[in-house]
Amino acid sequence: MKIFIDTADLAEIKEAMSLGILDGVTTNPSLVAKTGKPFEACIKDILQVVPGDVSVEVVGTDHATMVAEGKKYAAWGDNVVVKVPIIQEGLKAIKSLSQEGIKVNVTLCFSPLQALLAAKAGASYISPFVGRLDDIGSDGMDLIQQVVDIYGNYGYDTEVLVASIRNPMHVVNAALMGADVCTIPFKVIGQLLKHPLTDKGLAAFLADWEKANKG
Ligand code: E4P
Repeated sequence: MKIFIDTADLAEIKEAMSLGILDGVTTNPSLVAKTGKPFEACIKDILQVVPGDVSVEVVGTDHATMVAEGKKYAAWGDNVVVKVPIIQEGLKAIKSLSQEGIKVNVTLCFSPLQALLAAKAGASYISPFVGRLDDIGSDGMDLIQQVVDIYGNYGYDTEVLVASIRNPMHVVNAALMGADVCTIPFKVIGQLLKHPLTDKGLAAFLADWEKANKG
């Protein structure tokens, strides 16, 4: 399973990269706004340090604007993936950009039918938002299982990118379901590694080593 970080914060990206397990980055307009940097500079800074896929979201809501934005972003780097919302005009843009060989990450997916249409339009990634579904009393991970099953039934190449991750159990379940990618906030990446028995065991080993080698 690939691991992406869900942030536009360069310091977080660099720290996650230093762990040696990072395959890519996803951004969105809200995450870029949080950095306080101008959009283009923020994305270009990320592209300078990340060799893997970097998702960059369009803000247009009509086909022509989305395609124009997508082409502009794609020219910034070979690893740019254009993020397009799954609305009617977005569906047309997914098709147009994919046909031009530009990778598309379809965002704001909340239903299996949206995922089916995105795959048919040629998306490289589908991003179902699990946390936001959990927030309204749905089970976000049920959607992941549905999308994995539907794509498996028809052999679609579109990769299932689990988004809006809030906790480590989202990642465990995504891996058990065979999702292709998890995009994870920096804080949750840190939580993936932690186990109290690891810390307790290491403290005991080091204390015993000290005792045995004293003097
Ligand atoms: C995915 O690509 C989105 O940027 C992101 O996962 C949304 O997460 P949120 O629901 O925590 O804002």
